[in-house]
Amino acid sequence: MAEDFTVTPYQVTGEIDYDELVERFGTKKIDNALLRRLSKYGEIHHMLRRKIVYSHRDFDWILNEYDKGNKFVLYTGRGPSGPVHIGHLMPWAFTKYLQDLFDVKLYFQMTDDEKFMFYDKLSMDDTRKWGYENALDVIAMGFKKGKTKIFLDTELIKTMYPLAIRAAKKINFSTVKAVFGFDNSYNIGSIFFTSIQSVPAFLESYFQKKKVPCLIPCGIDQDPHFRITRDIAEGLDYYKPALIHAKLMPSLMGSEKMSTSKGDMTIWTTDSPKTVKRKIGNAFTGGAVSVEEQKKHGGKPEICSVFNYNQYFFLPDDKALDDLMQKCRSGAIMCGECKAALAERVIEFLQRHQERREKAKDILEDFMLRD
Ligand code: TRP
Repeated sequence: MAEDFTVTPYQVTGEIDYDELVERFGTKKIDNALLRRLSKYGEIHHMLRRKIVYSHRDFDWILNEYDKGNKFVLYTGRGPSGPVHIGHLMPWAFTKYLQDLFDVKLYFQMTDDEKFMFYDKLSMDDTRKWGYENALDVIAMGFKKGKTKIFLDTELIKTMYPLAIRAAKKINFSTVKAVFGFDNSYNIGSIFFTSIQSVPAFLESYFQKKKVPCLIPCGIDQDPHFRITRDIAEGLDYYKPALIHAKLMPSLMGSEKMSTSKGDMTIWTTDSPKTVKRKIGNAFTGGAVSVEEQKKHGGKPEICSVFNYNQYFFLPDDKALDDLMQKCRSGAIMCGECKAALAERVIEFLQRHQERREKAKDILEDFMLRD
């Protein structure tokens, strides 16, 4: 039997079996019929084609409502505990695709409160600072001005609090313990927090004073929060939010989620070209023990972190990805060349991102939602 794994918003360990996770969480796989339906609205994103965004709850209902002229809003977020890395950008890029495809509003939550309460070493000044720093990365992704509302929990709290306590009143301690695996040693802010993460799913309905559907694109590790949100939604007289889940981007080290703690295996959005080259140069690959071996037997793209980066983010063209896979398997390309090509792609992407990130400083306030 494969090694066991755990996925919660606060702990991801072991080798994740994503099919099994769908069973455990009780979500639905995005099947070909759903993709065909989606193709009516525009191009199918490479993350959908490649089953990187692969699971959902009620996404079909969101489309039904949309077809009836009942537009939804998007909601996603970020826990601002430090700088942003490429793994974080992945679900955001997908969120932007959805915003463009359906021309809808996006609520973007910065859970500075969450990261303050869950990390001993972070002060509230730290998490607020990271909230604003990370907002620049969000804006740099090209979300629509006027349709994108970013906020920090500690700042929008006057608006959020009444909704948060209505949610909190419906959530038991025993549920939170079971869903997140908390024990009695957790501080009480952490226990309360999930009610704050529920709130943005209801914000548009609250502002419009009528029920508005909400779709949450997120890494599948966040699903436990929203199971709770969905359980309480109707009791608060709102729709259950729908969800669309992405797999977690693997690190340069191998298959596990890109971790914030393993410095050199993580590419920050602010890294220089030299740093990117070094990090990718040191990445784990599916190469053979020697060049001769690899020329003879080929490499293994399915375990290769460089290939993963291409697949998840940097090589959206299916034909190009397929060619690369063939070349790797047949021993026609060596890891050095492949790494150099990826580094070029990453550097080019980051150059543009960093320019937009700088410009975002001047327009930040246009994106901020305030009480
Ligand atoms: N809790 C998430 C994190 O730690 C941040 C978050 C808040 C979020 N709301 C969300 C992520 C909605 C996805 C969707 O990263």
